[in-house]
Amino acid sequence: MDRGVMSKIVRLVQEHAEVVVDVSTGAPNIVHWGAPLGDHADADAIARALDRPVVHGSLDTVAPITVVPEHGSGFPGRPGLNGRRGGGRSWAPRFVTQTHSHIGNTVIVDAIDEVAGLALTTNITLDHALRVNVTLENIGDRRYSLDSLVVTVPLPEHADELLTFDGRWAREFHPVRRDWTSGSMLVENRRGRTSHEAVPTVFAGRRGFGEWHGDVWGVHVAWSGNHQLYAERLPDGRRYVQGGELLHPGEVVLEPGDTYTTPDVVGVHSPDGLTAATWGYHRSIRSLRVHPTTPRPVLLNTWEAVYFDHDIDRLRALASTAADLGIERFVLDDGWFGSRRDDRSGLGDWFVSDDVYPDGLGPLIDHVTGLGMEFGIWVEPEMVNPDSDLFRDHPDWALVTPDYEPVLGRRQLVLDLANPAAFDHVLGQLDALLRDHRISFVKWDMNRDHVHGSGVDGAAGSRAQTLAVYRLVDELRTRHPTVEIESCASGGGRIDHEILRRTERVWTSDCNDALERQTIQRGASMLIPPEVMGAHIGPPRAHTTGRTQTLSFRAATAMFGHLGVEWDITRLSDDESAGLRSVIAMYKEYRGLLHSGDVVRFDTDEGYVAHGVYAPDRSEGIVSFAQLTTTQSLMSPPLRLPGLDAEESYRVEHLRLPRERWGSAGAQPGWLADKGGVVLTGRQLATHGIRPPTLHPESAVLFTLTRL
Ligand code: DGJ
Repeated sequence: MDRGVMSKIVRLVQEHAEVVVDVSTGAPNIVHWGAPLGDHADADAIARALDRPVVHGSLDTVAPITVVPEHGSGFPGRPGLNGRRGGGRSWAPRFVTQTHSHIGNTVIVDAIDEVAGLALTTNITLDHALRVNVTLENIGDRRYSLDSLVVTVPLPEHADELLTFDGRWAREFHPVRRDWTSGSMLVENRRGRTSHEAVPTVFAGRRGFGEWHGDVWGVHVAWSGNHQLYAERLPDGRRYVQGGELLHPGEVVLEPGDTYTTPDVVGVHSPDGLTAATWGYHRSIRSLRVHPTTPRPVLLNTWEAVYFDHDIDRLRALASTAADLGIERFVLDDGWFGSRRDDRSGLGDWFVSDDVYPDGLGPLIDHVTGLGMEFGIWVEPEMVNPDSDLFRDHPDWALVTPDYEPVLGRRQLVLDLANPAAFDHVLGQLDALLRDHRISFVKWDMNRDHVHGSGVDGAAGSRAQTLAVYRLVDELRTRHPTVEIESCASGGGRIDHEILRRTERVWTSDCNDALERQTIQRGASMLIPPEVMGAHIGPPRAHTTGRTQTLSFRAATAMFGHLGVEWDITRLSDDESAGLRSVIAMYKEYRGLLHSGDVVRFDTDEGYVAHGVYAPDRSEGIVSFAQLTTTQSLMSPPLRLPGLDAEESYRVEHLRLPRERWGSAGAQPGWLADKGGVVLTGRQLATHGIRPPTLHPESAVLFTLTRL
């Protein structure tokens, strides 16, 4: 059957993007995803305009790149659905559209393959971003084993460069660019959490695309477990990206009537470069019900201040100093519970330790709240130490594969939350903790990969575990709706758009070294907005790298997230104390702008990093210019600031950081020293820009922009 003959087109149009879908192809076919085509466009003509000839050496039909492309229809790439029934049947289905509905900005297409006994429902929404998911139902009368169901989105043939991320613990979100001239690229994650290593996001664009130029598309898999991302250029020139869950063998088996739904695949696009494309991700997060609307409180996290030394007097002193400096939330990290005096034991025992808190947590919480701060607490609910009461009582609740020696990570095992008894136990303990204490914030940690079976029958259980974690967080939120949650997994191991449906903050990285953070946060800003991005001022000598940095560099870096302090502030010199106090005041002054504006990143020469935030109406902005390493030129190159109102005038002023020290150079650009800075039009700022001062490596300056 030539299904193209019956093509039926649906248009989803938003201010910045348009998606045109042919709903007649079984799984629908996205025939256009990009800039809006305009009111007078004839969307029915797209297929004809881009019709592909049948060439020598190919099949007599050109199978479309539908949302679930079909091997059985002649699609030469990677099929969207892989699975089978007993004996290997139903392995290459071909779907036929049954119905479609188009309501507002959503189109839903139902399709079936009667021969294979499978039904497919595709859901496509275009709001701040493109959002696609697919549900497969076994409508046959025998079991169907699902190997993979991924969402496929086609990309234009001119998108010949890919941007993905490298990472590891304490070095997340490092952008990597590669040519995409031919062939394919695969990102797979089997760590059972979003992972530091395989960020489930890829950008594609015309080679050389930059922050402010070039057609760019982004594709993100919103899932906190195992995932896959695949990008292929077919030999005929067509391109597509597939994203979805990575299933272990036998992990999903659909009995008759059972369904499986993919994670959402979230796409963004801009014809004007990466910065504008990533606003789609930011707006998408900002539109979530859970997204915080109150000013993001400056917090103190006790981890790098005291580690496991939970001495009550020391903690009280820390809290008093924090409140005095203007800190608004005190977060008690690992070490308050069970036998947890180091990282060898106690996980799973979520009751307050009598050893360190003989009178419970009440007195410390009263002290903190009495100082006007919120109290937050650390938990790691998905884990159990073999050395814990919980494990001794319920060894069968750990996720281990029967008859094999368990693989430990940080001396801990994953708790089988898909087991209802284990789930209820942890829920009960956390519920009691939040019920019995004045806790406003939970730092939810997850410190090891998940590599074992389900614990029940040894079958793979990563999916069940991921879904159980979501259920656990959701249930706690329902019971304690005012408590905010931070997603942490040894730093940035669980940052994705699905966990952000149920958390207000992510811990971006265990690395508080500002030099590393300039790159980590820049990468993370391509997926999440600054108000959810945890960013802390650590001690002068960074614990994860041993580098020493000035307070002004650490502050300029951490200001562009949700600010925290992770430092033993009871030992500050007077100078440090005064400096930190004014940084906190500065953050409070600017957080309204920082957390509601459009994040802007600038292309710079190697060795520098520049970024900022513009108010949505472009009335003001704040910009950071940092020098990371030495560079060939002693002088900083001019910084061009595109994206402001071209014909309006802006006053650019230096926003002096406490104890700011520039390089050893002699004279600096005159406008910096002048009261009132310099006034330039938006067009001038985009065209010739401003000359920042000459800086030492590992230092930064801030500028403000005010429209006159
Ligand atoms: C890993 C986290 O990323 C740290 O911030 C800290 O909470 C430790 N775990 C505590 O064990």
